[in-house]
Amino acid sequence: MLSRYSPPTNHAPTADATGGKAWQAEFARAKSLVANMTLAEKVNITSGISGRCVGNLGGVASLGIPTFCLEDGPAGVRPVHGVSQFPAGLTTAATWDRELIYNRSYAMGAEFYDQGVNIALAPVTGGPLGPGRNWEGWFADAYATGVASYASIQGLQDAGVMATAKHFIAYEQETYRNQYNQTEWYSVFPANEQDSISSNLDDKTTHEIYLWSFAEAVRAGAYHFMCSYNRINLTQSCNNAYTLNHLLKTELNFQGSVISDWGGQHDNVDSALGGLDMAMPGSGWNHVWGAFWGENLVELVENGTIPEYRLDDAAIRILTTYFVSGQDVNPPPEVIFNAVGDTYYDAPNGYRDVRKPETAKLIRGIGAQGITLLKNTGVLPLQNPGRIAVVGTDAMDNEVGPDGCGTDSNECPAGNINGTLSIGGGSGYAYAPYVVTPLDALKLKAYETGAEIGQVLKDGNATSSLADLLTRSDVTIVFVQAYSTEGRDRANISLDHSADELIAAAVNQSDNVVVVMHVPGVVDVEAWADNDNVTAILAAWLPGQESGYALVDVLYGHVNPSGKLPFTWAHSYSDYYPGTIVADRVRVPQSNFTEGVFVDYRWFDSQNITPRYEFGYGLSYTTFEYSDIQLDTTIQSDSSAVQETAEPFEDYDGSNSLYDVLFTVSATITNTGNYTGSEVAQLYVSIPEDDEPPRVLRGFDKVKDIEPGCSATATFPIRRKDVSSWSVERGLWYVADGDFTISVGASSRNLPLNVTWSSSSSTANRRRAAFFYPWL
Ligand code: NOJ
Repeated sequence: MLSRYSPPTNHAPTADATGGKAWQAEFARAKSLVANMTLAEKVNITSGISGRCVGNLGGVASLGIPTFCLEDGPAGVRPVHGVSQFPAGLTTAATWDRELIYNRSYAMGAEFYDQGVNIALAPVTGGPLGPGRNWEGWFADAYATGVASYASIQGLQDAGVMATAKHFIAYEQETYRNQYNQTEWYSVFPANEQDSISSNLDDKTTHEIYLWSFAEAVRAGAYHFMCSYNRINLTQSCNNAYTLNHLLKTELNFQGSVISDWGGQHDNVDSALGGLDMAMPGSGWNHVWGAFWGENLVELVENGTIPEYRLDDAAIRILTTYFVSGQDVNPPPEVIFNAVGDTYYDAPNGYRDVRKPETAKLIRGIGAQGITLLKNTGVLPLQNPGRIAVVGTDAMDNEVGPDGCGTDSNECPAGNINGTLSIGGGSGYAYAPYVVTPLDALKLKAYETGAEIGQVLKDGNATSSLADLLTRSDVTIVFVQAYSTEGRDRANISLDHSADELIAAAVNQSDNVVVVMHVPGVVDVEAWADNDNVTAILAAWLPGQESGYALVDVLYGHVNPSGKLPFTWAHSYSDYYPGTIVADRVRVPQSNFTEGVFVDYRWFDSQNITPRYEFGYGLSYTTFEYSDIQLDTTIQSDSSAVQETAEPFEDYDGSNSLYDVLFTVSATITNTGNYTGSEVAQLYVSIPEDDEPPRVLRGFDKVKDIEPGCSATATFPIRRKDVSSWSVERGLWYVADGDFTISVGASSRNLPLNVTWSSSSSTANRRRAAFFYPWL
């Protein structure tokens, strides 16, 4: 009997591109071009150099291949002025709205393109789910993250920029992520003397949790992937033949290029043989992230250490995607720059504002749709209160402006009042042209309604100044936050700036306290969430530049909240599985993913732990009733793959796709309350296998703007993969025999509708029976 743990071999053979289903013509063109290139020219398009962008390729001018500019990141073009600061991925995930996910990426993609960027280092299509950079990505769920990956890749690429699906794979913590950069806070050993963290996980978990959303990125036609900083089962991600050559390029049949994260490449040879295609930053960045490929690659190919076909394949992959993107015909405009320091985009001849007026509206809309109402005793929507008290520095501007803290963050060193938190820090940060603070927007609203606004813009125990203001106010709105940035895992889940004290002081003086949280994930709300004087709680996440407008839209009911939690909100950090972040001061730090497939709500459900707010939870100003669940077993062939994966699965007559729709579930959602509203209906599947979680999300449908008394139909197409499990023993996806309970409802723990789908009675399985019993 094989164990569930199947250690990967690091000898997976190299996997040459073929162009796949969709890129045949461009592949042929790239191949013939590369056949005529010198070694030095091939190196020029595969190895990073110093330049104007975060990453740069030299190009081959004689063949008409331009220099390439690679720029961060997932919340907007960075570090560039004249662009928008979009809501974080997490905020957008909380909308559960495929259209908004796509529209955000499309609008962002247009800004990348117009700023002269060839390759966007976005979106985050997989990890981390953990408490460091989770806000850059989407859901703590493989299926939903897959949906968001697909839509966000297509949005960016439809706008003309090449997207990068990152970070591949199992990158779940910031601590010990990088062995080169000694500026990271956790560095305890000299450079290169401590390995980067190893994520140790089994094959079932790899497939069912971490690889899932990357498969969707491939299917969406992603041009590039970024390998991550961590090791996987002790082998560096960017040198990892199992994850790159086997999982990504063979099993997922990825035809584009793999770019190293900055410092993720640890050597010249293993990375080339393991499946890396583009060294970043290569020789750039003064070698703070190591220095790889470039001239070394010429020598290693010349002396036979690296076969030339491998370098050819890397160059072909990069050129194929360049041609598919159409940038050879419609190149992004040149970046005009002043090569002094990093101020090139701001130089008088370099600055350009590429924002479109409709983008600000989109950002406001996503911010409002993402707001997740966690508690409401009836105070919301506000009925034009006369006297409003605004409390906490999170309501106001950063005292040095929206870009005063540098290229990485709106969080300045201690002592500065950072103001409202609109986005997190690191490469996922983007400059905001301005930030509409909650206080700004509340004042504008007061101008309209005639309200009076009083404010105490202090944090911590501000009792003396609060007493007078709060007792004469109709409603008190307390603003709190928790900062998160790349490079650092949050040490705990507490709110920042002594927020608990501030809320305690507020509830002492007022019996109508609304708490608004700008947070990157879970925070501890236990001290005050159940207090009767806390009448409403809103998670406003990281909303980007239009923060205040989005909030006021919801507070006053111009937008009925419909956001739902993209992760499980626990009572305490210890409710999550143990060992989430490993910080042992050892030379080979390792993180064992012992929770396996029991991630997030799957853990809480299997361990019978009651969360404070479950995955998928969120309130509305109206109420919805679920009825009339239907199951339609008509099979539909997959038509959604731009590129097809080659994932192995039980396919008895060889003519099916893992992504064919096996059946479709529908349900009626009726608005039984008094406000028009949208509802995120969710579908969970219970797979009849002992080693599967009690239920897994396998569909969601946001039915929009249902008027009181009216109904809408939510529809959930369920694909073969959605009911499949990964067999470690057989190395393929299979559909278990038996009855699958399909549940539909408003959250992972509020599932009023159920129907059974039986795999043995479905057409898919009759085919299977016919294989064994041809007379059937
Ligand atoms: C490191 C980050 O992990 C990655 O997301 C980013 O794109 C690169 N640095 C470049 O800034």
